[in-house]
Amino acid sequence: MVTASEMVRADSVHGALYSDEAIFQAELEKIWYRTWVYVGHVSEVPKPNDFVMKVLGPQQVLMTRDRNGEINLLLNRCAHRGNQLCMEQKGNRSSFTCPYHGWTFSNTGQLRGFPFANGYDGADRSKLGLGHVPRVAQYRGFVFGSFAAEGPSLEVHLGAARGALDRLCETSPSGEVEITAGFLQHRAKSNWKFLVENETDGYHPQFVHASIFSVAKSGIGELYGPQSTAVARDLGDGHTENDLRPEFRRIGKPMNWFGTNAERLPEYVARMKAAYGEEKATQIMIDGTPHVMIFPNLFIAEIQIFVIQPLAANETVQHVTALQFKDAPDLNRRLRQQTMGSVGPAGFLLADDAEMYERTQRGVTGASKPEWNYLGRGLHRERRDEDGFLVGDATDEVTSRGIWRHYRSLMEAG
Ligand code: FES
Ligand SMILES: [Fe+2]
Repeated sequence: MVTASEMVRADSVHGALYSDEAIFQAELEKIWYRTWVYVGHVSEVPKPNDFVMKVLGPQQVLMTRDRNGEINLLLNRCAHRGNQLCMEQKGNRSSFTCPYHGWTFSNTGQLRGFPFANGYDGADRSKLGLGHVPRVAQYRGFVFGSFAAEGPSLEVHLGAARGALDRLCETSPSGEVEITAGFLQHRAKSNWKFLVENETDGYHPQFVHASIFSVAKSGIGELYGPQSTAVARDLGDGHTENDLRPEFRRIGKPMNWFGTNAERLPEYVARMKAAYGEEKATQIMIDGTPHVMIFPNLFIAEIQIFVIQPLAANETVQHVTALQFKDAPDLNRRLRQQTMGSVGPAGFLLADDAEMYERTQRGVTGASKPEWNYLGRGLHRERRDEDGFLVGDATDEVTSRGIWRHYRSLMEAG
């Protein structure tokens, strides 16, 4: 049998990688339950005993902040007979009581007690706690979990993607991002890797998003054209980005990345200048926020984040929310409005992408030939930038190739 790693070549990948259920199960073991996966943000549980329902791969987890302020990731499954413990999306409580037989667990996962306790004489309560994600770590407030008890640290996993998170936080006058606008969920009948690839595919926007670019009179489309000085970059470790800064610097106007100008956001601009000084603030506001896909599931798309959740070989949910910056109310209002227009229920942008996710899935499952998807665009002009990263032109598939290189190394690991 051909293994998943043999299906990845330097310039192409086999279509079965997107459709085979056995490969999907292997990916859960070798990627989703092993590497670090983004789960949530500290601002979603600001106070002791806050909790919020999250996902890690196909599984539901409760992200809790205990009374000591520590963040825990608990599996949403009663230790008695497996009942789904919590149905609330978020709230504040120090314990969770199962509705089936009343077992109660603390927000750190320990069994606190059960009704009619004399029926459990001799039972070891310490062995009857909730399952938990063994490793939890955070970077700049972004909380990640790993089902592997041992392995590389989060810092090592993030590698060069840390710089993108730093850049994102720096666009906030307080240096902090908040995830407080609420999530929408978009379900797609598509393999999760089609979504990951598409997030930093600089080849499609001019075609797939032509309608939003024309009605919004947006110049974004040109950033992904043959004349653009923007670059596609493989940050290593599966992380990729479309770096639009060269274009924004060439144009040289603060807030152009956000489709607006400094005059329309006076409060934000004043706070940025107070926080960073005139020169640095202006540079940050010209550069804008990153467009980066942090493998395997966190996509920072300038003004919003997307969290990818795989459910089956042909089914994925994308959780989306507007980014909010602490102490930037005028910017935040606009971030929410633009997010609604682009990725909301009637938004123009994600609907276009979703159509392509599903059509590619139907293509690779509905027709058997040609078996390989070709990802060789820009291979002949790939180069190293001054930091040693592989880069290509704005529309090149250097990003997809980087994702697959990393995918292959994870799938080949023992
Ligand atoms: S299944 Fe939860 S208490 Fe019985
Ligand atoms: Fe797109």
